[in-house]
Amino acid sequence: MKLRNFYLASAMAASALGLAVPAHAADVKQVQVLHWWTSGGEAAALATLKSYLAKEGYAWKDVPIAGGGGAAAMTTLKAMVAAGNPPTASQILGYYALDYAKAGKLNDLNVLATKEHWDKVIPKALQKFTTTNGKWDAIPINIHSVNWLWINKAVMDKIGGTEPKNFDEFIALLDKAKKAGVIPLALGGQPWQEGTMFDSVVMSTGGPAFYKKAFVDLDPTALKSATMKKAFDNLAKLRAYVDPNYAGRDWNLATAMVIKGDALVQVMGDWAKGEFTVAHKVAGKDFLCYRFPGTEGTVIYNTDMFAMFQVPADLRGAQLALADAVMSPAVQSAFNVIKGSVPARMDVPDTAFDMCGKKGIADVKKADAAGTFVGSMTQNYAQPPAIATAYTDVVTKFFHGEIKTSDAAVAELSKAIDAAK
Ligand code: BGC
Repeated sequence: MKLRNFYLASAMAASALGLAVPAHAADVKQVQVLHWWTSGGEAAALATLKSYLAKEGYAWKDVPIAGGGGAAAMTTLKAMVAAGNPPTASQILGYYALDYAKAGKLNDLNVLATKEHWDKVIPKALQKFTTTNGKWDAIPINIHSVNWLWINKAVMDKIGGTEPKNFDEFIALLDKAKKAGVIPLALGGQPWQEGTMFDSVVMSTGGPAFYKKAFVDLDPTALKSATMKKAFDNLAKLRAYVDPNYAGRDWNLATAMVIKGDALVQVMGDWAKGEFTVAHKVAGKDFLCYRFPGTEGTVIYNTDMFAMFQVPADLRGAQLALADAVMSPAVQSAFNVIKGSVPARMDVPDTAFDMCGKKGIADVKKADAAGTFVGSMTQNYAQPPAIATAYTDVVTKFFHGEIKTSDAAVAELSKAIDAAK
């Protein structure tokens, strides 16, 4: 009897006996994947992985949980794991993966990792999140970075703008747009979006050594410093350039404002580029990508990993096929060309990428060598989720005026981080 027929027959027999039918019995050549890639660009990028697996003979059972930044997805994942029903794999960020690994919920992928020498091609900084006690249990499909500006080129030309090289020049550029009657800054007023923007503001204000001291080391002096206060002052300046309807807006709707020319610029991770790509907009011609002013030479990263959960033994083959696909140079190129991110594998050529992608790839290599490749605080690559959430809470309260002064914001930030430790 063929394997599939065997499972169908046993499932029918089991249900005839009134026994619970295991969810996996229907098809062992299937992967169930949880993710939050629901925008146009995200879905188009994911389609490259789905079709690669389809060619290998694996079906894809989609568990999409909308919500940029992934907070809603992480809640669903937690519930599935608690119910003993984890997906084959889940999109995951940084410290979330380490928590599941520590709890013994992830599968060992060393059988593939050793054969394919993943340790040689993935940056060491990322391996902290992909391995536990020398075992690979999560795999990175990309490297995103958050310190970018995405600019509508026609609007830029109309206002006679040039690339801002520091924060003051950025403010001058936003002023030009305002005078020309264009919305200067497209923002979605959600905690994770404001936090993501503040990651860049802190880097621009204090530089990489300060960023690391404050966010990676949680050095109390750095967190309470005049530099941190200045970063909040700078964030406050940006408030003057958003439109009145920014609160609660999804990130991709903010990107659409820039694509349409209703707004000049969005400060966002390079997943924003995926939206330009699916709208058939061309880098350098229709839109511009610059590093957030004052952060050139640094990369504030967040990498999308798939955490590989413990699945019944008969689903293990499908899980390994998924891991193999994600780590294949072909998928890492095709997926990231659309997603806006760059390959997590350092050996994938930049040939298929546009000018922003080529810059992204070169920037990651340079920053990694220079020690300026640092994890995003908001995206759970500098600290575990409780601290990252405490941080975005303070940032959003400040941006929306609930915390009134930069002095108060600095004090609240230290307090919230201490409480979350
Ligand atoms: C993820 C990206 C995703 C973005 C918006 C980030 O946390 O790393 O892959 O596109 O959220 O949903």
